[in-house]
Amino acid sequence: MDWHLECSDCGTTSPPDGLPSVCTACGRPWLVRYPDRTHPVTERAEVRRRHGMWRYRSFLPLVPDEHPITLGEGDTPMLGAPRLAAALGLGAILIKDEGCNPTGSFKSRGLSAAITRAMHGGAKRFTVPTAGNAGVASAAYAARAGAHVRVFAPRTTPQAILAQIVSFGGDLVLLDGHIGDCGKASRAYAAESGAMDLSTLREPYRIEGKKTLGLEIAMQLNWTLPDAVIYPTGGGTGLIGMWKAFHELRDAGWVTADLPRMFTVQSTGCAPIVKAFNEGAVQAEPWSDPWTIASGLRVPGPLGDKLMLKILRETGGGALAVPDEAMSELAGVGTRSEGIDFSPEGGASIAAAVELQRQGVLKPTDRVVLFNTGAGWLYRDAGTVLGGA
Ligand SMILES: Cc1ncc(COP(=O)(O)O)c(C=O)c1O
Ligand SMILES: [Zn+2]
Repeated sequence: MDWHLECSDCGTTSPPDGLPSVCTACGRPWLVRYPDRTHPVTERAEVRRRHGMWRYRSFLPLVPDEHPITLGEGDTPMLGAPRLAAALGLGAILIKDEGCNPTGSFKSRGLSAAITRAMHGGAKRFTVPTAGNAGVASAAYAARAGAHVRVFAPRTTPQAILAQIVSFGGDLVLLDGHIGDCGKASRAYAAESGAMDLSTLREPYRIEGKKTLGLEIAMQLNWTLPDAVIYPTGGGTGLIGMWKAFHELRDAGWVTADLPRMFTVQSTGCAPIVKAFNEGAVQAEPWSDPWTIASGLRVPGPLGDKLMLKILRETGGGALAVPDEAMSELAGVGTRSEGIDFSPEGGASIAAAVELQRQGVLKPTDRVVLFNTGAGWLYRDAGTVLGGA
């Protein structure tokens, strides 16, 4: 393997042998580094000719001639949204519709990469705590790899998401509480059974899969970067992955622009990163009594808090919380006005765009990418219509 691991916090380095978890010195997440890889700009044309997120394999943790565990993830549309923008008085917005992934959310990307590496490292069975969509993706990619996965999810997770986990063969355990409680149960199960824990940022490769979000945006914008991205944030792998991608693209000379300003949006019912950002803190306090209809954002104590806060500040971005009512309402407006199937998390991105423009933080002329991180149908229990009919 022509890469190594570097701690995102204390800088410790380690070879990537076996099934790595977190930094052995400080317990913070690893970042994958590829010092020996070169990326001639001429390779961009070849990348364009390939398909799916593995088209970027020269930036990804694959050994030569290795076949990844894939379901065709990536290559999701980036769509203009003129009617939505006009209805809300927004400027040049683009919607990155991650609901089009094989498991209905951007979680496909990270789990394709993580399970590819874990199978190579000798994993036989997996365990994952989830706010919902990572459980669906873990079940699907474990099935694709012929492996078993136990999924710990909150009992309050939307029914359609739970049904998908079971449909893909996941061994689902429902718990009272939130993803943090599921994490404890998952780690206990890993210790007793030897299953590999796929938790967000507790293994290094989900970030690498999420990195393809940033690589793909750049390619879709003809190797330029947007002025800003708005990302509904829970555990933070998407934000961290994209930031890493933008840096790697600049280092390779594939893009020359400044990094986009990166904005986190959370729910007012669970906003640990927003609170820490506003207080000027370098790390976040766990949020007590977290609740939001955007189940993916119900992450009260993310392990990547320090790194996320650094990224938001380094890129001149920010963090804001929106109420569940606004995200539901705007998911409905977006879905009806554009035919894009917005999840509540996607609705949160729209709500954040409206608020950032109202505050003058974003200008109508800014090219802004809003993430719809998952498909709305996964949240539509018993025919619920987000934001009314
Ligand atoms: C639809 C959706 N959006 C956003 C998130 C948050 O993702 P991240 O962990 O990358 O911050 C999740 C996580 O479960 C999700 O399912
Ligand atoms: Zn460390």
